[in-house]
Amino acid sequence: GDASVVTHALARDELTRIRNVETEQVAFRKGLVRLGRICGYEIIDGRMETEYTEVKTPLTTTMGERVKGLDDVVIVNVLRAATPFVEGLLKAFPRARQGVISASRDEEAGMNDDGEFPISVEYVKLPEITEDDTVIIADPMLATGSTMATVLDYITSEKTEPENLLVLAAVSAPEGIVRVSEAQPDADIISVAIDDELDEDGFIVPGLGDAGDRAFR
Ligand code: PRP
Repeated sequence: GDASVVTHALARDELTRIRNVETEQVAFRKGLVRLGRICGYEIIDGRMETEYTEVKTPLTTTMGERVKGLDDVVIVNVLRAATPFVEGLLKAFPRARQGVISASRDEEAGMNDDGEFPISVEYVKLPEITEDDTVIIADPMLATGSTMATVLDYITSEKTEPENLLVLAAVSAPEGIVRVSEAQPDADIISVAIDDELDEDGFIVPGLGDAGDRAFR
């Protein structure tokens, strides 16, 4: 798969606001919702096909255009930071089926020498995936990639392979992108920004801090 960035100016604008240390909980969460919506629109614009269809207006019949595939979308919410991000995505994909996975880094164990975290998975509930589906796994942060690699294992162990497998992040570290693309070559990674590096605690720098804590605590 490929790794790309969301180029919409509003996506960069929202990301800049949520990076700001002064942005408090409510504004942070709302920013993630807006960012999710923009990312959803960008996925539609860049990756989904349209088809022409006749439409009867109150006055006449004319040619209209519809987006194909909007009924074949699965959004996977990686708890907990992805929840507001997914809320925004749902505005772009209102009929998406949803999966929920609780996967989190064991911060106490810490990062090992290979730059990986042990991941504890506590809850997995996925809708059935079909071969027509676009599966979007949403998590605002792709740091070491340990969480996403684990989540992807669950998705790809389903019996059907989806048509498109997308990993969507607000901020990624280069390490995480490498890790996920090696672990899952079929997945495309979409990120609003690719940041400089990880610090020794596995936090993305410059990043936006701990998205889960900033949105919920
Ligand atoms: C954060 C973030 C990602 C993960 C990224 O979640 O939301 O899920 O870390 O890091 P990785 O790429 O190194 O795995 P965290 O584990 O803090 O859980 P939380 O969302 O419940 O706070």
